[in-house]
Amino acid sequence: MTTPAYRIDELISAKAIAARVEALAREISAFYRGTDKLVVVGLLRGSFIFIADLVRELNLAVEVDFLEVSSYGNSTESSREVRILKDLRGEIEGRDVLVVEDIVDTGHTLRHVLSILGTRNPKRIEVCALLDKPSRREVDVKARWIGFEIPDAFVVGYGIDYAQRNRNLPHIGAVRFTGEPE
Ligand code: IMP
Repeated sequence: MTTPAYRIDELISAKAIAARVEALAREISAFYRGTDKLVVVGLLRGSFIFIADLVRELNLAVEVDFLEVSSYGNSTESSREVRILKDLRGEIEGRDVLVVEDIVDTGHTLRHVLSILGTRNPKRIEVCALLDKPSRREVDVKARWIGFEIPDAFVVGYGIDYAQRNRNLPHIGAVRFTGEPE
């Protein structure tokens, strides 16, 4: 796949991310104190680094599972359905579930994921999203915990990709297209 030339400007440093993850984990640990084995569900692939860091800071017994759904890509607004590409391995019926997402953008993905998981009768589902772009929201979904609210920029790093690249950056950067061919 050819991509136009771009550069990446640091938006959130690795140090700032680590401090925020620690603070989120403290709040989440307090919220779920006494819960019997919380199921932490990472949405692949963008959340893989975030969930790895987050669960290591949780002072709770957790089970970690993953769900991968298709992104709606360039389909039209009306057909923004998502399909399950990789389902959970475990059961969530009667359990406390924490969905860990990289970015809530329009909110369509999260809304579909919550409705899919909701049919399995969990006790309760909450969401922790690393990044939130509230100005882009098209459907009313909210994460109980948000790492950082960001403006309408295309971001990469800390697990998040642009055309499958840049997931391994330790910080979060904004993609700036430079206009020249690569
Ligand atoms: P939504 O369904 O529009 O909320 O989009 C959610 C998904 O789109 C995220 O989980 C990301 O995978 C992807 N996404 C949204 N914004 C960005 C971005 O700035 N960089 C990379 N991926 C993004």
